Amino acid sequence: MELKNDLLIRAAKGELTERTPVWLMRQAGRILPEYRSIRAKLSGFKELVETPELAAEVTLQPVNLLGVDAAIIFSDILVIPEAMGLSYEMIEKKGPHFPKTLKSEADIKSLHKVEGGELNYVYEAIRLVKKELNSRVPLIGFAGAPWTILCYMIEGGGSKTFSNARKFLIQEPKLAHTVLSMITDNTIKYLNNQVLAGADLIQVFDSWAGILSPDQYREFSMPYIEKISKSILHVPVTVFAKGAYYALKEMSNLSCNTIGLDWNMDVNEARVLLKGKTLQGNLDPCVLYGNRDSIELETKKMLEKFKGHPHIANLGHGVYPDTDPDQVKIFIEAVKTFKT
Ligand code: CP3
Repeated sequence: MELKNDLLIRAAKGELTERTPVWLMRQAGRILPEYRSIRAKLSGFKELVETPELAAEVTLQPVNLLGVDAAIIFSDILVIPEAMGLSYEMIEKKGPHFPKTLKSEADIKSLHKVEGGELNYVYEAIRLVKKELNSRVPLIGFAGAPWTILCYMIEGGGSKTFSNARKFLIQEPKLAHTVLSMITDNTIKYLNNQVLAGADLIQVFDSWAGILSPDQYREFSMPYIEKISKSILHVPVTVFAKGAYYALKEMSNLSCNTIGLDWNMDVNEARVLLKGKTLQGNLDPCVLYGNRDSIELETKKMLEKFKGHPHIANLGHGVYPDTDPDQVKIFIEAVKTFKT
């Protein structure tokens, strides 16, 4: 069915749209009281992720309550390691924890291929969201980039340095490539299944791109992101590699449509280096802690920088959990009323 609001898709395909489409990374969950009240009734985050009716409901909340130009399916990048045999726990106020991590070749041998059925709850949630959306706005599907997923599989949780994951690249480069390849193949299947279920655009999150050296990024991340970008059928692909300033030029060669920028990246530089790509981003999430005037001013300043270049407005990373939804609305309105 034809989308009623297809700004995001047209911008992703390189069109200069009549106004800039806007959505927020991590818009589903985190900031909305309506999300928290559903979440509070459950055993935890995973129950929400794994119950399609509930995942669908919180996916729709930002569309209905904030007026964004896209929905993003409520799930997590960690469902892939789980489907491969490393299950995760989401610990309240702490974040993810993997009781079992990858330490040896034997651990890697025990990983398995994702056959499909394990992630049916995600595809079912997508189908429910598409039905409810009734083509109002596009639905974004997503996965983590193989390097970022490997970080969690080795480290077993969050970290400031992910030095165990980086140690693994130094000590076991061959094994690292073996696991990265496995994650890549599973992710391709997973993402194409999301597309079959109804996802209109795919975003790949490389949240930990910024901790690698340029050479390491070239060796351990980019080739796998390229393989994924090349393999997604029918829909545009966005790559968000946080902190990968050093790789922007090379990222122009990726087979994706859009590159996400974080707020540290220089927009003028990115416009030159990524000429053929749509750009997404890149307001500092902290701007949303300001008052109305400063949010409007900073949003305008950001939009001016992208003028004349295909652009999808967003923050430079996920919205912070203690952001006031009313402040988010000011940002969204400021984008919607900006003359491109
Ligand atoms: O964008 C959306 O709103 C859709 C849902 C979504 C979640 N996680 C839900 C979630 C998406 C796109 C993600 C991606 C994700 N998950 C990333 C990449 C994006 C980024 O921010 O860099 C990463 C690194 C993860 C792993 C993860 N999941 C961590 C580190 C944490 C704990 C801290 C945090 O970010 O909140 C999670 C938990 C998580 N994933 C929550 C939500 C709504 C909060 C858990 C809760 O409700 O208790």
